[in-house]
Amino acid sequence: MGFYGDRKVEHETECEAAIRAGDSGKAAFHAAKAAEFCYALAQETSGPVSASYVSMAEGWLEIAEKLKTAKLPKSVASSDGRANSPGEQRLGGATSPLPAGGASSPSEPPSPGEPSDSEFLISADTGVSFDDIDGMAEAKAAIRDMVVNPMLQPEKAKALNIKPGGGVLLYGPPGNGKTMFGKAIAHEIKAPFFFASGAQLRSKWHGESEQKLSRLIHEAQSRPVAVLFLDEIDGLLPRRTENSSAVDNRLVTQFLADVGGFKDSPNTLLILGATNKPWEIDDAVFRTGRFDEKIYIGVPDAEARLGMLRRAFKGVALEEGLSLEDWAEKLEMYSGSDVVGLARKACQIAFRRSIDDNTEPLVMTDDFEKARGTIPSSITPAMLKQFEEFNRKRFS
Ligand SMILES: Nc1ncnc2c1ncn2[C@@H]1O[C@H](COP(=O)(O)OP(=O)(O)OP(=O)(O)O)[C@@H](O)[C@H]1O
Ligand SMILES: [Mg+2]
Repeated sequence: MGFYGDRKVEHETECEAAIRAGDSGKAAFHAAKAAEFCYALAQETSGPVSASYVSMAEGWLEIAEKLKTAKLPKSVASSDGRANSPGEQRLGGATSPLPAGGASSPSEPPSPGEPSDSEFLISADTGVSFDDIDGMAEAKAAIRDMVVNPMLQPEKAKALNIKPGGGVLLYGPPGNGKTMFGKAIAHEIKAPFFFASGAQLRSKWHGESEQKLSRLIHEAQSRPVAVLFLDEIDGLLPRRTENSSAVDNRLVTQFLADVGGFKDSPNTLLILGATNKPWEIDDAVFRTGRFDEKIYIGVPDAEARLGMLRRAFKGVALEEGLSLEDWAEKLEMYSGSDVVGLARKACQIAFRRSIDDNTEPLVMTDDFEKARGTIPSSITPAMLKQFEEFNRKRFS
């Protein structure tokens, strides 16, 4: 199992143990952590798998909420079995894992240092390279110029007053390679990759969100060179309004302070913020130059879609007359993730048929059609228009 999967299971197990021990604060903490890692798994996957992780995450959040105000008996293990194993909740079950609740008691914050300092470090090498990203020539060139080359040639960059590192915002509609680009950048500059999503950093416990964010930034900044990928940064640094919560306001302020604080460090930290709702980010984040570079990761064109299809069907037998070029043209308004999902679905349909009919595995045009019927494009003209408007207003 991968990093996120391992952490998810760990926290699920800990939550269950804490419920049995009657420690509701600890159980709530681990349930919330399980939710965070479910969200992270949802990010990494697509289609129905991703959707099932989202509903698992929602199930765990619901459990965490209930646990926060639940009064658990000191031991619930033997008499009534397992007080509803959280395992039963894993696919978003609606039943409560708790015995009928008692008077509410404030939930306990996790004990200091409970989450390890490196909980956000994903890998020393992501193993994703620019070559794994199909098409997107413009974004690749911008990223090489603005991000990768100053890190690889720091002396030359310095001679021209170009400072490597700093903040770069990757924005664009969902499923088109922002996370992939983040990983590829870390791989190209041979830097460790730290990852956290807005949802992961958000915590309902008072004060914990800021601490987590600060800890993450300082942990990444303690490396000579590091990439810190902040996903869903709109959720982390939302536009502040008079209705904003205190946590929102503090998070933005804390972030600006932390990021400003490392400017003189000899280490080089590249902060990549990713979002598909850039208009929801607080203006101060842009105004104060925290994200000096903003790179739009748009939807793949026909050539990029063809690259993805070729990769997905490498070594796979295709029915005569089935043209990937034609399909690449047809999949207008499909995101990268849609294209990859559709290819996977077509293979699954072909697989089932080859088993049912006991025939050679072969992907047919009909499989593509059926797959397209179940996976519509997730990009809409309205969505693209919203990005155009944002680009015009913000950067013109
Ligand atoms: N240009 C591309 N080349 C190859 N694969 C791609 C490309 N764009 C997207 N994909 C596929 O889609 C998946 C989702 O991409 P990714 O997670 O990087 O998108 P994202 O922009 O971060 O989406 P989100 O906004 O939902 O976080 C990738 O894991 C990959 O399989
Ligand atoms: Mg992403």
